[in-house]
Amino acid sequence: MKIAMVGSGYVGLVSGACFADFGHDVVCIDKDPAKIESLQAGIMPIYEPGLAELVGSNVKAGRLTFTTDLASGIDGAAAIFIAVGTPSRRGDGHADLSFVHAVAREVGENLRQPAVIVTKSTVPVGTGDEVERILRDANPGVKFAVASNPEFLREGAAIADFKRPDRIVIGTEDEWARQVMSEVYRPLFLNKAPLLFTSRRSSELIKYAANAFLAVKITFINEMADLCEKVGADVQDISRGIGMDGRIGSKFLHAGPGYGGSCFPKDTLALLKTAEDYEAPTRIIEAVVKVNDARKRAMGRKVIEALGGTDAARGKKAALLGLTFKPNTDDMRDAPSIAVAQTLTDAGVSVAAYDPEGMDLAKPLMPEVAMQPNAYAAIEGADVVVIVTEWDAFRALDLDRIKAIARTPVLVDLRNVYDPAEARAKGFAYSSVGRV
Ligand code: UGA
Repeated sequence: MKIAMVGSGYVGLVSGACFADFGHDVVCIDKDPAKIESLQAGIMPIYEPGLAELVGSNVKAGRLTFTTDLASGIDGAAAIFIAVGTPSRRGDGHADLSFVHAVAREVGENLRQPAVIVTKSTVPVGTGDEVERILRDANPGVKFAVASNPEFLREGAAIADFKRPDRIVIGTEDEWARQVMSEVYRPLFLNKAPLLFTSRRSSELIKYAANAFLAVKITFINEMADLCEKVGADVQDISRGIGMDGRIGSKFLHAGPGYGGSCFPKDTLALLKTAEDYEAPTRIIEAVVKVNDARKRAMGRKVIEALGGTDAARGKKAALLGLTFKPNTDDMRDAPSIAVAQTLTDAGVSVAAYDPEGMDLAKPLMPEVAMQPNAYAAIEGADVVVIVTEWDAFRALDLDRIKAIARTPVLVDLRNVYDPAEARAKGFAYSSVGRV
């Protein structure tokens, strides 16, 4: 089957490469000639483990090609995916659908064969109806159907998530579209990945509900962590103790500095806007958004406390280890490190930092921070070492070496990577999240 993927960003590229790996004939389309040129040369525009190899092998096998030309790219395709960005609209938090609508128009103008148009971009409820209208206006003569097929890919684990999904959600009321989509996902279906067919609107909402629920879970355990610190309990035991209840589940109960990234912050805001528009307020999500925003700055204050409070902190040096919103990505969007660095520099603390992949993107977001070539260079002469992102490389740091090169042995572990007793036995003043 020929599949066209319009938009070769994170979701489009991972999905396109995985579909090609299943044996489909895939064309990835993008307006940006520089991106297409580098993809053709085997250079990935993003950091995602395993992606370069997957793209390379499928290009070599002739199943995956790249083009800037939408008309030729969609020619003969049975399924045309829209996988372009839906960023938060400046000012109001609504999802900006201008890219989705523009692609729908261009696909409509150039479609010559019957095809199912599939929105993979995260789009608010009702977007499929609008895409259908745009296509119909642009091309009244051709047979098409519009389906919704949200993605549930985690950055850093996207290929595994695509190939071994918990479920595949397909929203359509059209029987022919159902058949085409079953064929698209047949290789996964044979692997027993559950295919959930719903209405288009339900499918659009499932995506937001899933991300919002995960944001609630994280925020819940983060508040429990704050309470643990006050009452002398251990949040990791709380996570285990509640997570063993099958109704709750153990995943997404790691307390930390607050969620960030390209999805949870944007999608929770967009869901709030939808709820407002339809006069069905989602107060839990409203609270989650506020609590999570405040938490990121509070983590900066936690570091200031570890330095002895506001007066003592002025003129001291902090070393931040990890800047990206989570490990195995170079993505800096809404990363807690941004608020932590800002709170520290505002308080007159000088900040050095190291991140294995994120420093190029981090630099413009935190111009006052001195980026260093490795963790130990950042730690040299520091009064506090802060683990902000749990990269594997920070899980087994040489604590003796840190003690020797830091000015004072103070460790603030915002990801609960170290054992408090061990860190203290090594002579560190150690604090973490939700553990005393
Ligand atoms: C998220 C969802 O997990 C994916 O299912 C979804 O497809 C994707 O958004 C999307 O909408 O495209 P992602 O943003 O890549 O994926 O990252 P997650 O692994 O979900 O982590 C998000 C944030 O939550 C990170 O800042 C992470 O540090 C934080 N987190 C996660 C916690 O603080 N605690 C946890 O227990 C889990």
